[in-house]
Parts: sequence; C-alpha cells; structure tokens
Amino acid sequence: MQEVTNKKYVPTIVAFCCNWCSYAGADLAGTSRLEYPANVKIIRVPCSCRVNPLFILKAFQRGADGVILCGCHPGDCHYMTGNYYARRRMSLLFNFLNYLGIEKERTRVEWVSAAEGAKFSAVMNDFAKTINELGENKRLQDLRVKGDRDNG
Ligand code: FES
Repeated sequence: MQEVTNKKYVPTIVAFCCNWCSYAGADLAGTSRLEYPANVKIIRVPCSCRVNPLFILKAFQRGADGVILCGCHPGDCHYMTGNYYARRRMSLLFNFLNYLGIEKERTRVEWVSAAEGAKFSAVMNDFAKTINELGENKRLQDLRVKGDRDNG
C-alpha cells in the first residue's frame, strides 16, 4: 500500500557567513526583527575564503537545495584579500556545478556588511524564493543521507 503524505516541501538552504560582516549582518537582521526564512541554516566561518569549494559540494551531497556564501564587501575583508580569493574560487566552482547539471541559481555569492541587516534579510528572502521555485535538488545527493533527512 502506498503511503500518502501531506508534507509540504521545505527546501534546505545553507548560508556560509563570514564572522566579521555577514554574520554580524544576520545578527542585526535578527535584532532589528527583520524576517528571513527559518530554513536558512547559517554556518559561521572566519572569512568567506575559509569556505573550501568541497564544503559546497558536501552540502549538496548532504541534501542542501541551495547554498549561499556571504562575505564582506570587496576591499573590506578583515583579512584584506580573503573575499577576492573566495570570489574567484566560487566563480570557478559555480561553472563546474553548472556543468554537472546543478542550476546556477542554486548557488550565490553576496557581500553583506555588518550594517546591512535589511540587505541580509532581503537577500535571504529572495534566495529562498528562488530555491522554492527550483524545487528539490536531486543532483549530487547522497542517497544514504536522504533517509536520515526524511526521518527528521
Ligand atoms: Fe569577511 Fe573575509 S572577513 S570576507
């Protein structure tokens, strides 16, 4: 007998945020009571360049439907040039993901400063809307993990 479920699809969105700007921007969004979707899972990293492209592949493997990387504005990185490296790496990775069949819209790089709580909220709402429209990401998904995810 086939199981009938009324579960509404809720995408999993991973947001890597650098400690010095974007994470503080997320914090400001929270303290300013600006809303952004609860399914955006923030991972705080010291700098956007700390995000190894493999982290993003791993996120997709583990069931993420969208991955966004947020860092300081160009020229404002706490470590001077970290975000330049991150930008270069991500543009290569995103082209590679596109080649693998993962839609370009599932990944994004955004610069959000500590003073831009409103921008953080707007970016996350917009990204979540895009991922909702794209639906579930089935590429790269590790099926051993899928069972864990579905069971809570
Ligand atoms: Fe924010 Fe480097 S510290 S991008």
